[in-house]
Amino acid sequence: MAIREILKWGNPQLLRKSEDIDDIFSQETKDIINDLKETAFSLGERVGLAAPQIGITKRILIFRVPLSPLNKRYSLITNEKMPEIPWTILINPTYSSHSHEKQKGWEGCASVPGILGEVERYKRITYTATDEYGHFISYEASDFHARLIQHEIDHLEGILFPMRLTSPSRIGFEAVILGHSSA
Ligand code: NI
Repeated sequence: MAIREILKWGNPQLLRKSEDIDDIFSQETKDIINDLKETAFSLGERVGLAAPQIGITKRILIFRVPLSPLNKRYSLITNEKMPEIPWTILINPTYSSHSHEKQKGWEGCASVPGILGEVERYKRITYTATDEYGHFISYEASDFHARLIQHEIDHLEGILFPMRLTSPSRIGFEAVILGHSSA
């Protein structure tokens, strides 16, 4: 187990499509899960991390939904009251949207540090995955939770949020955008 280096925006490895995890209970998968956990826990206020961000192009990620916005960045993204979800591993996750309804919101990423960009995401999704214990998960998510899952699954497709901006003008330094926001 180890805290791994986070690959940063510009690294072509982040643009690769990840492969399915074939054996959930293999030692290799256990090692990936442990590294994802240790690295995610070391990131402070972050809420998600996908395996490609630590250099592993496999379809596995970790996320959490905090009880209330963790900091000003997340309060800019959402002020909703959310059911708290502790750190959770998703293996081979997929999602589908309930409707075409989309929402614009600011996103950040550990691979794009210090930058926020505005991205449009489905407001409501259903996602499925296998958890680290081999259980099948099916979950309905909306708003912040739905945005987070879409952002993390994008990493498995080799997509970073700057590739999905609502406009090339809607990206900038986090400190500047938060400084100009009333949120
Ligand atoms: Ni990210």
